[in-house]
Amino acid sequence: MISFARREESETPPRSEGVVGRISREDSRSLTETITQNVSDGILMVTASGRITSANPPACLMFAITYPPQSGEIVGQTLLEATHLKVLSDLCQSARESADVYEAEVRRLGRNEGLIRARAVPLFSDAGDATGDVLLILTDLSELDRLRTVRTEFVANVSHELRTPLASIRATAETLLTGALEDPEYSHRFLQTIMREADRLVRLSEDLLELSRAEAGQRERGRFDLCELTAEVVARLMGLAERRNVSLKFFPPETISLMVRADRSQIDQVIFNLIDNAVKYTPTNGDVKVRLNLNDNGHAVLSVKDTGIGILSQDLPRIFERFWRADRARKFQSGEDGIHTGGTGLGLSIVKRIIEAHGGTVAAASELGQGSQFTVTLPLASDEESIGSERFVTP
Ligand SMILES: Nc1ncnc2c1ncn2[C@@H]1O[C@H](COP(=O)(O)OP(=O)(O)OP(=O)(O)O)[C@@H](O)[C@H]1O
Ligand SMILES: [Mg+2]
Repeated sequence: MISFARREESETPPRSEGVVGRISREDSRSLTETITQNVSDGILMVTASGRITSANPPACLMFAITYPPQSGEIVGQTLLEATHLKVLSDLCQSARESADVYEAEVRRLGRNEGLIRARAVPLFSDAGDATGDVLLILTDLSELDRLRTVRTEFVANVSHELRTPLASIRATAETLLTGALEDPEYSHRFLQTIMREADRLVRLSEDLLELSRAEAGQRERGRFDLCELTAEVVARLMGLAERRNVSLKFFPPETISLMVRADRSQIDQVIFNLIDNAVKYTPTNGDVKVRLNLNDNGHAVLSVKDTGIGILSQDLPRIFERFWRADRARKFQSGEDGIHTGGTGLGLSIVKRIIEAHGGTVAAASELGQGSQFTVTLPLASDEESIGSERFVTP
């Protein structure tokens, strides 16, 4: 493994003294080994001639090699042979020549695609001379990179979603100001457009707030009956279903009540979003059935089944993404439907975040043109959990 040139005991104390105290040479070697074996960064030791003399487990993982490496793998190879990244050998060369630390972000393509930060640290002899050996520290930034992309896309999506209603409000107000205000019929219609677009903005901001709450894991847990809550939400959406001529029915479990310990308003939102979708994406004369049951694992199972437009099988894995909407759904809603102005594609991502934060699962099955079924599971409250100092939402 990696070893460092060390000062003799009699010489000036190593820099680490004062932090860990003086340690023996053997201890120091074992400490170094323990550290390199257990850090999450990849560490490669590269000699003056550019060959790798040791690699720790994360370094092997980064280059898709099992640890410990087989003979001929990584150790003994040049940096270029082992990693195929010329930028890494250049970095080591610069560190070697200047006897200074060099750092760069390196993007890997192909099978091990991702972003890494490479830090080349030159090593020195006891006398303070650069040995030519370089310690190459590799930090995997792929997750950070993914989050950066997600954030950029998120901001772009939010801006886009804001721009459409705002542009519409502006254009309509302009038309009113340039004369339409005098015509009662037109002015009424235009004001309705402004109201509708403003409602859409309100919904978007509420959804964004809800999403950020769900992502931040903010919850106020209480104990309540899921049947009661589902019945409440169904009742709230009955008007919408009637207006759309869609039959909405709730089938509660026959005898048991399903007590859960969760954030009631968040679970309300989950049930609402699922039934709202089912009603929204089901044409006239279709039906939506909401069922609640208990599964073998003792979890509550809520299923919302509709006879609606359905989802393409290749789209199914994407429906829980933020802002994702099927083209068919957009057309379906903006067509004959005067009730909705179109959603933002945040509903299901909120559902997923909330349910997973509560230790449950959510799944979707669908057949294009036939209908969809969304199934949510939620752990039941255990009896001990009902005793506690937390505020209960419903007794
Ligand atoms: N029951 C369903 N039937 C058919 N398609 C659905 C159904 N539920 C969701 N979808 C599809 O998944 C997409 C994402 O749903 P989601 O609830 O996240 O967003 P939305 O309903 O478009 O907008 P929002 O819920 O933010 O108002 C929908 O646009 C639609 O394409
Ligand atoms: Mg929705």
